[in-house]
Amino acid sequence: MRETLTGDTDLADFVRGMPKAELHLHIEGTLEPEMLFELAGRNGVELPFEDEAAVRAAYSFTDLQSFLDIYYQGAAVLQTTQDFYDLMAAYLRRAHADGVRRAEMFFDPQTHTERDVGFDVFMEGFTAAMADAEAQCGISSALIMCFLRHLPGEAACETFRAAEGWLDGIIGVGLDSSEVDHPPEDFAEAYAMARAAGLRPVAHAGEEGPPAYITGALDALGAERIDHGVRCTEDPDLVARLVAAQTPLTVCPLSNLALCVVDDLADHNLKRLLDAGLKVTINSDDPAYFGGYVADNYVAVATALGLSREELARCARNSLEACFAPAAQKQAWVAELDAYVG
Ligand code: HPA
Ligand code: ZN
Repeated sequence: MRETLTGDTDLADFVRGMPKAELHLHIEGTLEPEMLFELAGRNGVELPFEDEAAVRAAYSFTDLQSFLDIYYQGAAVLQTTQDFYDLMAAYLRRAHADGVRRAEMFFDPQTHTERDVGFDVFMEGFTAAMADAEAQCGISSALIMCFLRHLPGEAACETFRAAEGWLDGIIGVGLDSSEVDHPPEDFAEAYAMARAAGLRPVAHAGEEGPPAYITGALDALGAERIDHGVRCTEDPDLVARLVAAQTPLTVCPLSNLALCVVDDLADHNLKRLLDAGLKVTINSDDPAYFGGYVADNYVAVATALGLSREELARCARNSLEACFAPAAQKQAWVAELDAYVG
């Protein structure tokens, strides 16, 4: 039996059963058209779309910015604590079904605070749903607060100060939104404050931006993981540095395809990155917009690039090792993976 996106069913079952972490996931990017309409109705928000089919038809992107314009528009339906709870609960249910043991999820506070939706509203919704999901199905999760890089570095510092009462519920900081012309160095001060408060630094770099932005994320921000990072191969010295440090790359194949970072999944450099000895992980980025959750990404890239089960398991192992959970917990998940793949 064949399935459309996921290739053969054995492969899909193998992937879904494999313990893994998801480390590159924007919670606002999990807003499915169905929930978009439900929340718009609940909150009296007018949508520029007739129905769910029209929304899906609009999800045809030419680059990162063409996606971000629609993504920020969609986020406007998120207004109450219940909305953020529902969004988070739906994603964690979906991730659990994909074999995710640990999810480290980005959120964009500035997208909400600029609409006068405050930290109390979204943090209470997120954290309640995360606690309930852990109690109900055992999935472990954590939040990474992203700064929007199309806004000034000073706005990121202000956002960090606004988050100070909520840091117990935040494990790290990240950097997202329009990459080109917004270098990581602009955010050095906000990251210094976050690191001083014990938060783990990660950053999007080398998705559309040049390899110099990856170097900048490492040097100016102290990034411990690079989100995307696929353009690192344009700088062999940088590749050698990332291999030596085993800096994790959170690669998102279906995102790269949807945003035209690659024209065809068969051209994706994920296998070359793995072969070079880089610590590659596979993730979904914004699954409601890019046509697949994390297991779909594993299957799609395995099918397009002919990855072996051993290579898929290596990506899953990398994800568990690269997550920010306590060491003993990570070891237990890796042991579970080892038992699974034999
Ligand atoms: N890149 C930059 N910003 C984003 C992304 C992405 O892939 N997804 C959501 N915000
Ligand atoms: Zn992303």
